[in-house]
Amino acid sequence: MSNYHIKHLEEYYQVYRKSVRNPEVFWEEIAEEHFLWRKKWNNVLSWDFSKPEVKWFEGAKLNITENCIDRHLYTRGDKTAIIFEPNDPKEKAEHISYKQLHEKVCKFSNVLKAQGVKKGDRVCIYLPMIPELAISVLACARIGAIHSVVFAGFSSTALATRINDCDCKMVITSDGSYRGAKTIDLKGIVDDALEECPGVETVLVAKRIKSDIKMKEGRDKWLQPLLDKADNVCVPEIMDAEDPLFILYTSGSTGKPKGMVHTTAGYMVYTAYTFKNVFQYKEEDVYWCTADIGWITGHSYIVYGPLANGATTVMFEGVPSYPDYGRFWDIVEKHKINQFYTAPTAIRALAKEGVGHVEAHDLSSLKVLGTVGEPINEEAWHWYDDNIGKKKSPIVDTWWQTETGGIMITPIPFATPTKPTYATLPFPGIQPALMDENGKEIKGNQVDGRLCIKFPWPSMARTIWGNHQRYRDTYFTAFENKYFTGDGALRDEVGYYRITGRVDDVIIVSGHNLGTAPIEDAINEHPAVAESAIVGFPHDVKGNALYGYVILKDTGESRNQDNLRKEINQIITEQIGPIAKLDKIQFTNGLPKTRSGKIMRRILRKIAHKDTSNLGDTSTLLNPEVVQDIMDNAL
Ligand code: WT7
Repeated sequence: MSNYHIKHLEEYYQVYRKSVRNPEVFWEEIAEEHFLWRKKWNNVLSWDFSKPEVKWFEGAKLNITENCIDRHLYTRGDKTAIIFEPNDPKEKAEHISYKQLHEKVCKFSNVLKAQGVKKGDRVCIYLPMIPELAISVLACARIGAIHSVVFAGFSSTALATRINDCDCKMVITSDGSYRGAKTIDLKGIVDDALEECPGVETVLVAKRIKSDIKMKEGRDKWLQPLLDKADNVCVPEIMDAEDPLFILYTSGSTGKPKGMVHTTAGYMVYTAYTFKNVFQYKEEDVYWCTADIGWITGHSYIVYGPLANGATTVMFEGVPSYPDYGRFWDIVEKHKINQFYTAPTAIRALAKEGVGHVEAHDLSSLKVLGTVGEPINEEAWHWYDDNIGKKKSPIVDTWWQTETGGIMITPIPFATPTKPTYATLPFPGIQPALMDENGKEIKGNQVDGRLCIKFPWPSMARTIWGNHQRYRDTYFTAFENKYFTGDGALRDEVGYYRITGRVDDVIIVSGHNLGTAPIEDAINEHPAVAESAIVGFPHDVKGNALYGYVILKDTGESRNQDNLRKEINQIITEQIGPIAKLDKIQFTNGLPKTRSGKIMRRILRKIAHKDTSNLGDTSTLLNPEVVQDIMDNAL
């Protein structure tokens, strides 16, 4: 018997020990008992981190949507699967039962097939948080097409890069989206992107905004009439355990975004099992994760993990500040939310508004609170604990990544005593290691180092789409035979982990992972810019904000600096999206460089942090004289 539901600390340790001593038996029991397989596996796990190659449940056959939908039809067909809460609170929420979800996904699947989408084809989904987003994700999975969801806040350039990188033949979008008081012309963004995407044959357009939009003859089709005609039964495609389920892009410190590839069986088993335990989900509960399905949090913990458990999961279309800062608490009260999962940046933004909005609502349904995306600072943790959880709802600070597919380090509520700013203990099956700079593992407690994982887990990404070498170089070469996360962490006296942040050039802004390179590339496209360097600096709501150092070309003419700043942010918005805009832009005559020409970001970071008491040795720089000049003009 597997321990599918861990209930106290002793049990956690028991389960954890078993998961490490005999991982294959551990995962096999969970897989056997809780899922629907068309054929069982021949082998639970084979792995080699030097290649790297990892296979879970090889030989097994299944369809993840049968597990997320069909098998619930007999036991909970009328139970609500998805609650859709619209942007405008005056618009009625929609409750979609498992039966209705089945029909909607089947119809959508048949539309995809009729439009020529086949197993293995890539489909780009660029939709706001409306039911069609979850339904189209599931419809792809049902017919074996690989979905690539692109967050609908990304610009047309960023969208085009992602469409082309994995050769999507179809894009699913909507005529527009609502975001607070604003409406956004999503279809216009898609049209711009597709100027650069010759491989896209079909665009399916869901109707959300009642507006007239341009439809390109032969390419663009309204979704609804196609759904109306489609059959409501679609036999699921039988997939191999290791068939790709989806691609999701994440930024790296260099180069273009990485299309992380997740496969079917291991991802399903791990997201389902973590969801059940990390949120202690019970049959009657209503669970709400405020993330967007455009990020991994939404894939794993709005769609797949909850639905694999037959849960009721909320999709919220809007923003925390509309119509006012009480909206989250209004939704918690309205739908009697039991588990609430959000990001530190949202908590800080809401805390800033005081407790008036909180006190106006009945939050007594809450049982478990979660946070994800970046380190949570102590103040925000206590505000969340005091005002939202009333010190009764444990906070699960869940550390994980797009690459890991599921939650890796986290308390188990009611079992693991929480500690502010600590993600606490590894989830069963996860074997973390802290490494020093010479590549040696640091044993014992009260130590800090670079966080690695030394054994495979079922939901880890298997490759980067089209570039396995890059996958190897990024994650498996820094430390031999280990997966390197890019994060630093410390381990306290009882073995709890605290994630201290990125140790590479990735900056986390409002919980969004932003690589420095693509932003610098965008800035450098401004005709007046010669060179640029981006660093992060602390920001009380966003966690980090971006600080840019920009060298202008010497053209002899003088330019208005404020206008230049606006233009630079405009280019960033066009190339990446508004989330990557810079808070501060300092114009400078030089950037500190090593003799090999590498920008010394360490120094720039200290200046941006206003922490220049100890800049370290600058004498080895190629141009030490620029440092003082940059300090004198710092913003
Ligand atoms: C990076 C991954 C996993 C979903 C959201 C982000 C940071 C994530 C925590 C946490 C401290 C965290 C890490 C990680 N991060 N959760 N609980 N405490 N840091 O996914 O965009 O792939 O970003 O987010 O730095 O490496 P992502």
